[in-house]
Amino acid sequence: MKHFLGLDDIPASELRAILDEAHKRKKSRAGLSKGAIDADAPCDGKTLALIFEKSSTRTRFSFDMGMRQLGGSSITATANDMQLGRGETVDDTARVLSRFVDGIMLRANSHDTLTELARNASIPVINGLTDRSHPCQIMADLQTLEEQGRDLKGLRLTWVGDGNNVAVSFAHAAAKFGFNLTISTPHGYAVPGQELSLARGAGANITITENPMDAAKDADVVIADTFVSMGDKDADKRLADLAPYEVTDALMGQADKDALFLHCLPAHRGEEVSASVIDGPQSVVFDEAENRLHAQKAIITWVMEN
Ligand code: CP
Ligand code: NVA
Repeated sequence: MKHFLGLDDIPASELRAILDEAHKRKKSRAGLSKGAIDADAPCDGKTLALIFEKSSTRTRFSFDMGMRQLGGSSITATANDMQLGRGETVDDTARVLSRFVDGIMLRANSHDTLTELARNASIPVINGLTDRSHPCQIMADLQTLEEQGRDLKGLRLTWVGDGNNVAVSFAHAAAKFGFNLTISTPHGYAVPGQELSLARGAGANITITENPMDAAKDADVVIADTFVSMGDKDADKRLADLAPYEVTDALMGQADKDALFLHCLPAHRGEEVSASVIDGPQSVVFDEAENRLHAQKAIITWVMEN
C-alpha cells in the first residue's frame, strides 16, 4: 500500500510518473465541464475522506472536485466535527475510517499526527499540509513550471522569506527533480537543518543566503509564501523580521528577465509580495492554484493503485 506523506520518501521515478499523469489528465479534459468525469473514471466506487485540523480553500475544493472528476466521491470533515477533536485517538480514528472509506487526506497541525494515522490505517493516506511539509503543493508548482516550458533539471528556483513547510517540500523536491534551489531566510527563520541535510544527502543542490537580492540574482523562478503560517505565534514579530524579504519589483529585477513568480496562496499583498508582482505578467499563481486539482488527481490515482 502506498501513502503520499512527503516527497522525501517517494522515489524520483514515481514522482516523475505522477507529474506525467497530471499533465496527461489535465490535457485530456480540455473542453470538458468542471463536473464531467474523466473517461477512464479510475476512482469509480471509491471514496476519499478529507480531514482538516486547519483552514483550507484550495486543498479542500481541489481534492473534492478531483475525486468527482475521477468518478469517485469524498467526505469532508474538520477534526472538530469528529471525535478526534474530543480526544479520540488518531490510532482508533485510522482503524475506523479504514473500514468505511478507500483513502484519507489529512491536513494536520502536527506531522506526527499524519504519520500516526498512516501507521494505523489499512488504506492510503495523503499529506494535505502539516507543520513539516506540503508535498501536494509542490507537485502542482512543478506541473506549472513544466507547462510554462521550463525543464526542471538545472532550473534555478529561489525561495525568499520564511523557511516553512512549503520551503521544506521544495528542498525535498530539489533532490528528486534536479533543480537548483536557493533559499533566503532571515536569521531565526531558516529551513530546519535536518531537512536540509536530508535533502542534500539525497542529492539536492541547495544554496543558503540571508541576502534576498543575492538570492534572486539570475533566478528562473522566484517563490514566496505567507510570513505567518497557520499555527504560527507572534505574528507582529514575524511580519517585522520578514519585511525585508518581500518580493518586490526591485527583487524580481534581479532575476532572469523571463523569471516566473510562484506563491501557493493565500497571499498577503504588501507583506510577502507586492501587488505589482503577484498580479503582474511574471506571476503564474492562478495556474498554480488550478494545478492543485490536476496534480492531486494524479496523486490520488497513484495511491489508489495496488
Ligand atoms: N495552497 C494551499 O494549500 O491553499 P489552502 O490552504 O487554501 O488549501
Ligand atoms: N505556509 C502556509 C501554507 C498555506 C497553504 C501555512 O502553513 O499556513
